[in-house]
Amino acid sequence: MCGIVGYHGTETASPLLATGLQNLEYRGYDSAGIALVDSDLTVYKRSGEVESLLEVLPESSTQQRGIGHTRWSTHGPPTDENAHPHTDEDGRVAVVHNGIIENYEALRAELSDHTFTSDTDTEVVPHLIEEELESGATPREAVEAAVARLEGTFALVIAIAGVEELFAIRQDSPLVIGHGETGTFLGSDVTAFLEHTREVTYLDDGELAVISGAGVELYRDGESVEVTTEQLTWEADAAEKGGYEHYMRKEIHEQPRALRQTLSGRYDLDSGTVDVEIDLPREYLRSIEEIQIVACGTSNYAGRYAAELFESLADVRTTVEIASEYEFSGGRDPWRTLVVAVTQSGETADTLSAIRKAIRAGARTLAVTNTLGSTVTREVDDSVFIRAGPEIGVAATKTFASQVATLALLAVYVGRERGALSSNRARSVLQSLRSLPGAVQQVLDREDAVHEVATAYADSEAFFFIGRKYGRPVALEGALKLKEISYDHAEGFAAGELKHGPLALVTAETPVLAVLTDGSAATETLNNVKEVQARSAPVIGAVSGDVGESYLDVTWEVPDIGMFEPLVTNVYWQLFAYHVADEKGRSIDKPRNLAKSVTVE
Ligand code: G6P
Repeated sequence: MCGIVGYHGTETASPLLATGLQNLEYRGYDSAGIALVDSDLTVYKRSGEVESLLEVLPESSTQQRGIGHTRWSTHGPPTDENAHPHTDEDGRVAVVHNGIIENYEALRAELSDHTFTSDTDTEVVPHLIEEELESGATPREAVEAAVARLEGTFALVIAIAGVEELFAIRQDSPLVIGHGETGTFLGSDVTAFLEHTREVTYLDDGELAVISGAGVELYRDGESVEVTTEQLTWEADAAEKGGYEHYMRKEIHEQPRALRQTLSGRYDLDSGTVDVEIDLPREYLRSIEEIQIVACGTSNYAGRYAAELFESLADVRTTVEIASEYEFSGGRDPWRTLVVAVTQSGETADTLSAIRKAIRAGARTLAVTNTLGSTVTREVDDSVFIRAGPEIGVAATKTFASQVATLALLAVYVGRERGALSSNRARSVLQSLRSLPGAVQQVLDREDAVHEVATAYADSEAFFFIGRKYGRPVALEGALKLKEISYDHAEGFAAGELKHGPLALVTAETPVLAVLTDGSAATETLNNVKEVQARSAPVIGAVSGDVGESYLDVTWEVPDIGMFEPLVTNVYWQLFAYHVADEKGRSIDKPRNLAKSVTVE
């Protein structure tokens, strides 16, 4: 979810690549770089803004081909060394990469006689290509052989000194070719080059593009395939949003890919084990008596989901506190308390303040965040990254899903380290997690149905969301999403609490959205559905299995994947909130009074 650009043509490449990177800035990034190539190869890269990269680019250059990248860190902090492009030892092969190479540690071990200069997974690729070239392979063969050894998700663009062609290949990460008048462009999305051409070819998984002065050739499994092109009609603004009207909708739809990235290479189903790349020693994890999660807003609800997971999978008492309310007060043993900050930005002032209190009290601290190099990661003992890619819509969507998935991995890890979780049970949890991206996609494929229901109920007086167990944080998050972007009155309740108060608010004008899936005590919640139905409230139920559809006005099916079904349900709630807000013409990506990252207490 970083940005890729490339150019091969008759104009000077450097300014075209620089503008391409600026066009991709909207995606969010933490470092940038460019490689210019002719018979030599020169790399310029900097942490920080594209602006600071421009300062080190030569004012005039002659190269007519090159590649560039904006990086959103997943392996290693945002430093000059970790910025792309990465090169081999001789500096002849340059690679830019989006995605995650899962087996990079094994590959690095095999390349033990090579010197690596970064912490990235990407750097193995130029070294593998270098090996192939040294053993006599042609450039195309070298690229194909190196890529065949990679596991994971990637879009790669490769330049080699003295080689006329650029190479581009994708596996589960987008890459698009632009056919311009002065040459061929490459981009991780069309915004990279939209001002130069609208005639494009989208690469498919497993396709290798070979780009030369003569144009583009495509190969699959070594065989040449036909190049098909299409004409784009999008304007630049729409293109940034991938053709969606709002970032929020784009990000809702990015969830299957974000979840795949979150989970990629972090578990082994056969052994029921997890590796979330943290250093907290087993002895310490065995000794902890309490986990305290501190977080705000949507991250707080992800934390509540996680608290249930830690209690059930890792057998450790877990509390969740709103970060602005947090005190590390007496009676707790700081040495046996792990304080976990959940924050997608890593910059929320309330969360930072809470974690500082925990540090002062002497507790061990961990951050679960989307942002490498963020303030929180510099202050805590250890960090786990959720790898959701940049999120631009103020209302958090894909980061919630990736936070819960990451925390679930963490709960399995802690459970296994503490000896509290059998390999069989771990396997079943991991199986459910593995099914998440596909299940979320199935919900996204039903968006039209959700849209219709949202239109029908958009003018309601208020909306109530109910759920139990894992369904409860999802009810709270569903209501938060709706109120944030539609400005309608929406509340989430523990389903069993309705009858202790909120039921007084329920009328025929207040739709109730209920989580009725695995992991949400659906049978009990159905009793609460009956209570609201008796008060004439319309009921929209997200249902898996056979849970009293006759009590529901609208039934949305949730694929049968076990304990993470409530997380899949949340995608229905997101789409519902989006379409209610859209129906009302709200400013969906930037709701009034709200900010993406709140850096004041
Ligand atoms: C702001 C945003 C929310 C977000 C909260 C916590 O209020 O509008 O969407 O959930 O901050 O943000 P964090 O970056 O700490 O997850």
